[in-house]
Amino acid sequence: MLEIPVDLGARAYTVSIGHGLLGSLNELMAPLQGRRALVVSNSRVWSLHGQRLERPLQKLGSLTRVLIPDGEEHKDQASLAAVHDALWKTGLGRDGLVIAFGGGVVGDVAGFAAATYMRGIDWVQVPTTLLAMVDSSVGGKVGINHPGAKNLLGAFHQPRAVVIDPSLLETLPRRQCQSGAYEVLKCGVLSDRALFKALHSAPAGLTGWDRVELENAIASACRIKAEVVEKDEREGGLRRVLNLGHTIGHALETVTRYRRFTHGEAVGWGLIGASWIARRRGLLAEAAFDTIAAGVDHLGPRPRVSDIAADKVLTALKGDKKARGGRAVFVLPTRIGGVVVRDDVALPEIRHALRVMASREALTRR
Ligand SMILES: NC(=O)c1ccc[n+]([C@@H]2O[C@H](COP(=O)([O-])OP(=O)(O)OC[C@H]3O[C@@H](n4cnc5c(N)ncnc54)[C@H](O)[C@@H]3O)[C@@H](O)[C@H]2O)c1
Ligand SMILES: [Zn+2]
Repeated sequence: MLEIPVDLGARAYTVSIGHGLLGSLNELMAPLQGRRALVVSNSRVWSLHGQRLERPLQKLGSLTRVLIPDGEEHKDQASLAAVHDALWKTGLGRDGLVIAFGGGVVGDVAGFAAATYMRGIDWVQVPTTLLAMVDSSVGGKVGINHPGAKNLLGAFHQPRAVVIDPSLLETLPRRQCQSGAYEVLKCGVLSDRALFKALHSAPAGLTGWDRVELENAIASACRIKAEVVEKDEREGGLRRVLNLGHTIGHALETVTRYRRFTHGEAVGWGLIGASWIARRRGLLAEAAFDTIAAGVDHLGPRPRVSDIAADKVLTALKGDKKARGGRAVFVLPTRIGGVVVRDDVALPEIRHALRVMASREALTRR
């Protein structure tokens, strides 16, 4: 088992990673023994893996469960209300515990319910998608979407523990696995050359990847996120480096109404766009650009970008909630393992990057 500490003083916790770890959940959660718990999941995850979670947890004490509907469109008020209702009906008090068992949607809703019920109760994350394992389960950002904007309503509420069992990924559809892999690659470009190399030599889509390599990659990504979050828990500044690839990525998701790309696929495109801007500015060597772009393409095919009007992307960039005074903030790689943050990227540079992305499309179309 690998253990990554997230050192946040009174809110510190550990991310535990290992194949088959679900079976020892009762031991990992022993300090929380005797507390009444509510498991939040969805019917898909529950039908596949519910029993594996329930068995060890029943040894800990009383357990109830609530299933929310599957899908990003259900990261909403109705799902949040369903979890609040279940907490209330089960009679959980301030010593109650929420256990999130699912992907990023379940984690964000369950965590926000835990953050708001009785002004905040403890919760534990047991992520079941690669994206949730390497990204959303660490850092304490929780929330739901508003009909007007994604992730508009939320809070910072750190979990008490994160338990990652990569064997859960065996049932994850390949496209979802790829989606998480782009985020891992992003972490490599951000600050870990060895992680980047490991992904570059992994099988496409990570299918059949060596267990130890997979565990190490998840651990490295969690460590990078933990280190950033430790220095900047509430996103005052540094935490925005985690948005590498997300500036253009978010804009692509917005203009296609979240229907065309998985989040990771959009980030993959955004990573190529940001790297191109850096290369054109002379911040990133040509060979490093080629290696990053090849690394992104290696992870698998992505939906097309060439039919998306550049003007629409630029408009979406201005509306990004992380834009400063209408100017998008870009994280630009300076090498594989280093970045700088810039808010002076001009429109022609972005247009150029979009053209380069479109020209690479033939290499990657799904
Ligand atoms: N809080 C954060 O810091 C943070 C960071 C990144 C992303 N997010 C959020 O995470 C969400 C995306 O998360 P996601 O990509 O995990 O999507 P998701 O939760 O919708 O899961 C994707 C699909 O996989 C299914 N699934 C989950 N585990 C499975 C398994 N083991 N086997 C088979 N199917 C499984 C789900 O039911 C769903 O259909 C977004 O809402 C995003 O905003 C949050
Ligand atoms: Zn992301």
